[in-house]
Amino acid sequence: MSDNTILQPTTIVIFGATGDLAKRKLFPAFYNLYIDGRMPKGFNILALGRAENTDEKFRAYVKENLESFSRKPVTDEDWAGFQVHITYFQHQLDEEASYKNLYEKLESFDETYGSRGNRLFYLSIAPNFVSVISNHIKNTSIASNPEKDRIIIEKPFGHDKESAIELNNLLSKTFKEEQIYRIDHYLGKETVQNILAFRFGNSIFEPLWNNKHIESVQITVAEEVGVETRASFYEQTGALRDMIQNHLLQILCMVAMEPPVSLESGEIRDRKVDVLKSIRRISPDRVDHYAVRGQYGRGEVDGKKVNAYREEEGVDPVSNTETFVAIKFYLDNKRWENVPFYVRTGKRMKEKHSYITIQFKPLPHSTFSESSSLLSANKLIINIQPLMDIRLQFMAKKPGLSLELKPVEMIFDNFACQTDTPEAYETLLLEALVGDLTLFMRSDQVEEAWDVVKTIQETWENRKDLPFPNYDAGSWGPEESNALVERQGHHWV
Ligand code: BG6
Repeated sequence: MSDNTILQPTTIVIFGATGDLAKRKLFPAFYNLYIDGRMPKGFNILALGRAENTDEKFRAYVKENLESFSRKPVTDEDWAGFQVHITYFQHQLDEEASYKNLYEKLESFDETYGSRGNRLFYLSIAPNFVSVISNHIKNTSIASNPEKDRIIIEKPFGHDKESAIELNNLLSKTFKEEQIYRIDHYLGKETVQNILAFRFGNSIFEPLWNNKHIESVQITVAEEVGVETRASFYEQTGALRDMIQNHLLQILCMVAMEPPVSLESGEIRDRKVDVLKSIRRISPDRVDHYAVRGQYGRGEVDGKKVNAYREEEGVDPVSNTETFVAIKFYLDNKRWENVPFYVRTGKRMKEKHSYITIQFKPLPHSTFSESSSLLSANKLIINIQPLMDIRLQFMAKKPGLSLELKPVEMIFDNFACQTDTPEAYETLLLEALVGDLTLFMRSDQVEEAWDVVKTIQETWENRKDLPFPNYDAGSWGPEESNALVERQGHHWV
């Protein structure tokens, strides 16, 4: 979006405004956008909650949380300007009368704008409420203007392909596809967006970006945290649904997509869908060959002893939910034929680190015969978080009298250029305010991504006699994950 886009007056309606996401991500994002002068001239944040509350108390609660979660400091001046835009609104998700009141409230905001404002509905609620909210919104005509009204939906978007199709059909009764913003917050991360710039803003990498020069691609999203307080959600979800179906497949799309003709949202989303379609589906009898699942046992993370997953609060003591997944994908298209894409993600791993490794092919013939066994093939590493950089590894001469080689790195460091990087939610919310869908998922993207993991999901659901836990907290996952890549002579980087 351009820096001087003028935003229309907007009312942001947050369903689930007293929940965790609103507290940690949404209010801090709106507050930081406000400080940066990126909020519309006229805006209101209508915070919906079940309990009775006053604006004053709710604002104090928001302020307290901003102090913990805001990227920029909370100053008296900024807070005074921001807080007047927040209104608390008592609302029952399943009562028609509540939506009629909401309608009136929205009309009253429009009167203050002097015209019908834009409306942004943020559904930060459990997935089973999406249908009830969407039906009420339709029945009470509070989102009756397709040019001005938008809905943002949090993941998980369904729990399998069928439920995602059902949800898409349901939403399409109230909203046009162009009004639906399905969030995958990884797409808002600065370093993930930079993949597009890096690949398509330069001429020197694209000629190498294919199976002639690339040996394999690895994508790792490793977390130190365990299940925390989310057992009831996570027990039903597991790492395949929570991370692979969305975040990791979206990153894979950015790495593997064909060059888009333009940055137009439809174009970018089309190219990503092409990638998802090209991913070879794994047949049920080959799932063990291509995919590994794991669950953490007790261990040590960051010098502290931690419990096994099955000992976490709210978790079934014989749970078979996976907290780690590694998969080898192949893409059946001309560019990527025979290049394995290894993806892995896990909770309670050795360190928090998300990165992409492009492993180039070794030299076909080495001029440096003496030391050739020490030559390592070139690698490009894109660090997504917490490091935010791009590193090209290559060989160079060791300083000295003899001609010996050593691996060195050339680094572009995002932090060195900008220490104050916006949070993913700031970027995404701004795009939704502007009305740009590029960083959000279209219905067919979501359905295709479910299709990619479908046989793995079904096979795993039917086989529950597992030797869990099979990796120690604080490790890099189960041994089988190493075997998955080593079979092909590769190693996790
Ligand atoms: C969420 C998952 O989508 O992403 C969580 O539900 C996970 O389980 C989180 O911890 C990771 O996000 P980030 O931005 O911390 O890498």
